[in-house]
Amino acid sequence: MSFQIKHTVEGNMSQPTLSDVCQPLLSANPVSDLAKVDLDEDNFVHQPKAVDISAIYAFLGCATPKAWLMAAQHDLATIIQDHANCEKKAAGTAMNLIFRYQSYASLQQKLAQLIREEMLHYEQVMALMARRGQAWQHLPAGRYASGLLKHKRTYEPEAMIDVLIIGAFIEARSCERFAALSEVIEDESLAKYYRYLLKSESRHFEDYLALAATLSSQPIAERVAFFRNVEAELITSPDDELRFHSGVPSWLS
Ligand SMILES: [Fe+2]
Ligand SMILES: [Fe+2]
Repeated sequence: MSFQIKHTVEGNMSQPTLSDVCQPLLSANPVSDLAKVDLDEDNFVHQPKAVDISAIYAFLGCATPKAWLMAAQHDLATIIQDHANCEKKAAGTAMNLIFRYQSYASLQQKLAQLIREEMLHYEQVMALMARRGQAWQHLPAGRYASGLLKHKRTYEPEAMIDVLIIGAFIEARSCERFAALSEVIEDESLAKYYRYLLKSESRHFEDYLALAATLSSQPIAERVAFFRNVEAELITSPDDELRFHSGVPSWLS
């Protein structure tokens, strides 16, 4: 694999104000009062602060290929629509885990918080779409999540551990792609929003990985290494569809 981790998050990012980031999002859509409260509690008005995501670069097996970044820049509408879908799916997956594994208190607590944050992101992306005048479109899921989940073991508690490890990779890749996109897209308010997301998505990565490590009776390093290779293959192999987590655009290779 020849891709190297090159992205860096510099500490000199300009600080967005309420008026140039938060207000356009809030005024574009009838966002609920709850979302406004959560935005403040989440420190959105003071974001994005520089976030160190070096642990994510170390965790992933490869960086996002330049060809994907080029394709994403040219079709931001698809990326934003798929991002909205991903936020909803992230909350849904976590909710499924909460119902399925009710005896794990640490899992209940961490994922309850994660669900609230993912749904807040979902609301924010819908508001962002409204601000951009982007209509909601049906966009079928790409191959990424299913390409990871098909390797999930079928017996417990190993199935749970695999889903948690897969969750860590999905969150880590999301974070890496938000950072990469924020460096190249011309829409500065969108870039600021992506930088804002780094903080929560990097924490989601840490939470999933910590849950997998603490709930497993065996060391997880081998399974992490296995899914690292699977994930990197999905990211660096040709893909006929453009999605937030898709591989190298086949039409550009
Ligand atoms: Fe999210
Ligand atoms: Fe997340």
